[in-house]
Amino acid sequence: MIKVAFYDTKAYDMPSFEFYGKMNDIQFKFLEAKLNENTAALAKGCDVVCVFVNDTVNSTVIQSLYDNGVKLIALRSAGYNNVDIRAAFGKIHVVHVPAYSPYSVAEHAIALLLTSVRRIHRAYNRTRDFNFSLNGLTGFDLHGKTVGVIGTGKIGMIFANICKGFGMNVLAYDKFPVKDSGFNYVELDSLFKNSDVISLHCPLTDETQHIINSEAIEQMKKGVFIINTSRGSLIDTEALLNGIKSRKIGAACLDVYEEEADIFFEDRSGHILNDEVLARLISMPNVIITSHQAFLTEEALNNIAETTVNNIKSYFTNNNGICDNELCYRCGHIEQCKKERKEKCF
Ligand code: NAI
Repeated sequence: MIKVAFYDTKAYDMPSFEFYGKMNDIQFKFLEAKLNENTAALAKGCDVVCVFVNDTVNSTVIQSLYDNGVKLIALRSAGYNNVDIRAAFGKIHVVHVPAYSPYSVAEHAIALLLTSVRRIHRAYNRTRDFNFSLNGLTGFDLHGKTVGVIGTGKIGMIFANICKGFGMNVLAYDKFPVKDSGFNYVELDSLFKNSDVISLHCPLTDETQHIINSEAIEQMKKGVFIINTSRGSLIDTEALLNGIKSRKIGAACLDVYEEEADIFFEDRSGHILNDEVLARLISMPNVIITSHQAFLTEEALNNIAETTVNNIKSYFTNNNGICDNELCYRCGHIEQCKKERKEKCF
């Protein structure tokens, strides 16, 4: 029996993980706590920790897990910016779920865009109050507008194709443009200058942190719509707020937020929100915030649980621990990458 400490458990996580766990002789210890320096010891006696986007997996936590005998960190997410994979190297192997439903995130980005453009969020509140006035609800056609897609991987590609279906012109920017994709790749400056809508679909790295900052916003069209379903720190939130206040930014749709870690995923109604910036954003009529729910579809939850369980099983039972979904800081550097040579990362 493989024992897994499952951090930051939510009610919607349990059914699918229990189902796949039972089928594979894996026992989950469901913990409400997030993983951090204070809670790492709860994993003592477990072979694996299963973590999500707001768990803290820094070098101190990794050392503590290692000292407590944990052999594998199984991320139940695609993004892994919260794990110090360099610190884990040589101590604890790391696996993730590279794709579970890119449609879930791309479709959520579209849902946010349509809601915002057609003021559905405001109309919904009005008609519930028997207010049938249309004043202030004028939107615009997406057809013929230009959308700038930053990051054309799995999610960005689906998002861009849906936009094409609406008759939008797609401008793309990616550090590694996809050959023969048919997308019009441009420099970032050109994307900023020419887009009516900008949607972020790149990972959070040192290079992409604050890719949307005051200089970027300065270059954008007046009235630009910005959508972020990737990671909060891709946007300098203060700069975004200033852009909205100065009317340069027409609307912002955010599923992620720089300081979301201690706020999102929890019911905070009835509490005073201490985050002034988030409170200000929420108060804006042209800002829509969802709390990191873009992944939350039945299909995605099922695929996340199935892939995570398969990752764990591969590590402990199959192919001498080789797992296609293992990550290390060398991944992607072909000359160093052992996965290319069909070996474990270390
Ligand atoms: P992916 O790895 O398929 O695509 C990422 C793309 O970004 C790649 O084409 C890559 O070349 C590009 N990229 C890398 N560095 C870049 C840079 N410096 N500038 C521009 N482009 C760069 O990843 P996928 O599956 O499409 O996911 C994208 C992001 O979506 C994830 O990194 C994650 O942060 C976020 N996400 C959010 C979820 C949510 O619930 N809100 C759920 C799942 C993912």
